[in-house]
Amino acid sequence: MKTNASQESFFEVSADLAVIARFEDQAPSATETAVNERLQGALGKTLERLRFKGKPRQVASLDTLGQLPFETVIVIGLGKKDAVGPAGLRDAGAIAVKEALSRHYASITVDGTLLTADESGQLVLGCRLGTYTFDEFQAAPEDGPKPAITNVEVTGSALSEATLARMEAIADGVCLSRKLINEPANVCTPERLAALAVDISKAPGFTVDIWDRQQIIDKGFGGLTAVSQGAAVEPRFIHMSYTPVNGTSEPAIALVGKGITFDAGGLCIKPAKGMADMYIDMGGSAAVMGAMQAVAKTQPARAVHGIVGACENMTGADAYRPSDILTMYSGKTVEVLNTDAEGRLVLADAIAYAREFNPECIIDLATLTGACMVGLGPNYAGLFTDHEDLSERLLGAADRAEECLWRLPLDKKLGESIKSKRADITNLGGPYGGAITAAQFLQNFSGDTPWAHIDIAGPTLASKDDGYIKAGGTGFAVMTLVEFIGD
Ligand code: BES
Ligand code: ZN
Ligand code: ZN
Repeated sequence: MKTNASQESFFEVSADLAVIARFEDQAPSATETAVNERLQGALGKTLERLRFKGKPRQVASLDTLGQLPFETVIVIGLGKKDAVGPAGLRDAGAIAVKEALSRHYASITVDGTLLTADESGQLVLGCRLGTYTFDEFQAAPEDGPKPAITNVEVTGSALSEATLARMEAIADGVCLSRKLINEPANVCTPERLAALAVDISKAPGFTVDIWDRQQIIDKGFGGLTAVSQGAAVEPRFIHMSYTPVNGTSEPAIALVGKGITFDAGGLCIKPAKGMADMYIDMGGSAAVMGAMQAVAKTQPARAVHGIVGACENMTGADAYRPSDILTMYSGKTVEVLNTDAEGRLVLADAIAYAREFNPECIIDLATLTGACMVGLGPNYAGLFTDHEDLSERLLGAADRAEECLWRLPLDKKLGESIKSKRADITNLGGPYGGAITAAQFLQNFSGDTPWAHIDIAGPTLASKDDGYIKAGGTGFAVMTLVEFIGD
């Protein structure tokens, strides 16, 4: 899909579908008024008949019968001017492409006169995210190729080439993350994640290290070694490192992702119902890969590490057992009480490893606990950190990206429930506050480096299409991370 900020006026750009935005509490744009005049008042009549008020996601469409350089014009409601945020604009973009695709159209022109440059950018981002599909494993339709949008032109907006390029990079990052989440475990293996990391790391400023099973054992990654040993599928430890080509004096940001490509639960096996979705248990690594892909394209001023521990959690003859005592990369020992609490073991090694690079902060992302979903529902991710400044910056980034992030407490007292009689700590807390005890476990490996944990168990997978979000893997957190990293 090509996107362009056109210097021409709305009526000079020919396209299949024309899109006009309308705020609930503002007059129609001059463009809408002009379209209505050229159609002898037909647009106004249609809007009236449909009781169109400009409410969020409200849509009215009209065939122009060849009177204008577009076959169909649609007016999309954005709600009240002050209330519309990035997500609402992305939704509008997604609605526009849905309307276009349902008519087998290929090109869209957008009236951007009521929108700021940033708002137009988010709408274009929504157009890109709205076209995402996961259909590689389905036969092509018998009645010819599926429709696809080739062009989106925005007229009357101060949208710059730089913003358009940034939106493309963000969309590519989110869509890569969605794709990795949607791919089943027999396709998205640790080796596939590693190969992708190598691909991403061809960009300027990047280096990459990949370790296989033997190297993971030799390095002393006790957590990743244990979790991966019950699976025939080879594990990988992945470290992408980006330094701005023009150099930087600021310390790096380290992103750490849980990359469990399938979580059967290990010997503490999951019931069938809870297992089927567990191909998404690499959602944290998908967020890291998506963000690193965006970094590769946007070449920001900050240095960034992307670190992923990837393996399957299976039940093979060599599987780690409840009661095993693991010596982790940091030197701490962990008594395994539940092999299904595997993500924290893999992350612990990756967090301890990340500290060696003296990053300014470590942010780990993981589909870590069902408890986080129970507490926050399916749309919100949980944020855990004792670092006020980091918390503020992350919540600010999530707010600017309009992704749902909610801070939960680290509770020292509850943290005592992971004390072990046989080792330094156990990998299992008590019956309550499971998302918190998981975070407390990880905190044991962050030392004095500012660290934040984001539990994305809920928002990694969407049950249905909803505006710019598509059913399946959402690519959650990529946009927040890109905002956090900055230009
Ligand atoms: N991968 C799961 C968490 C999960 C659950 C992610 C639902 C996405 C949706 C994790 O490894 C796990 O199994 N957690 C256990 C922890 C328990 C054994 C302490 C859980 O949440 O039940
Ligand atoms: Zn598990
Ligand atoms: Zn898991």
